[in-house]
Amino acid sequence: MKALGDKFEKPKYSFLAMFLHWCFVILFAFGIYKQVDDISQLEDISFFRAEIMFASVFLLFLVFRFFYMTKTQKTSLPDNVPKYQKFAAKFVHFSMYACLVGIAGSGLLIGYFYSLGFRDEFLVTIIIGAHEFFVSVIYWLISIHVIAAIYHRLKNDGVWSSMVPIWKERSTNSKDDGR
Ligand code: HEM
Ligand code: HEM
Repeated sequence: MKALGDKFEKPKYSFLAMFLHWCFVILFAFGIYKQVDDISQLEDISFFRAEIMFASVFLLFLVFRFFYMTKTQKTSLPDNVPKYQKFAAKFVHFSMYACLVGIAGSGLLIGYFYSLGFRDEFLVTIIIGAHEFFVSVIYWLISIHVIAAIYHRLKNDGVWSSMVPIWKERSTNSKDDGR
């Protein structure tokens, strides 16, 4: 990334990290699109199986991505950002992972109890409540995350381009631009 100037010479996300991020965005959007509108839909055995299969793949993908990201990648936040900003970024990222595990995990639990014959019982109602709670929280977290990403894009500090393949940042350093 020399051509973009010194400001951008920091750890970049690998191709696999970007691939996992964007595949996961698509997977999550699909999960929301095909959401269960009513518990009675689970009576359809092929729908039920597809839900369980989807949630299991989603969970495995998430766990793989989490370990890959935390073991091999570094945040692209510039070193000079205030500590509170680094903390906020970490907090939002970890909370997103926790909520996504919560959505898939509670979904699988609903399926487990449903298959055992629990339908309108208090326990199932509580788990569905938790499932819907995680869904509401993830919408807030994703909104904060996207606003933060746009903020970094406007600051032109390299964070946006480290993960987003479009609307790339340009160096403000004219020396490195050859201008
Ligand atoms: C990663 C996988 C999943 C995602 C992304 C997901 C997403 C959602 C969303 C967005 C809602 C609507 C929440 C709301 O209206 O506030 C919902 C509701 C629900 N989901 Fe899931 N879900 C997943 C897995 C599952 C699984 C595996 C089951 C059970 C087999 C399940 C059962 C339900 C039920 C029973 C509801 C409540 C429907 C109602 O309002 O009666 N979900 N889910
Ligand atoms: C248009 C939508 C999105 C944009 C522009 C975007 C942008 C970014 C950027 C720029 C980063 C790097 C931040 C840094 O290094 O500190 C990042 C990381 C991350 N994004 Fe997104 N993102 C989007 C959607 C999502 C969605 C929908 C999710 C979750 C469902 C998500 C989850 C994450 C997570 C967990 C990270 C931390 C790195 C990792 O562990 O993969 N993003 N995103």
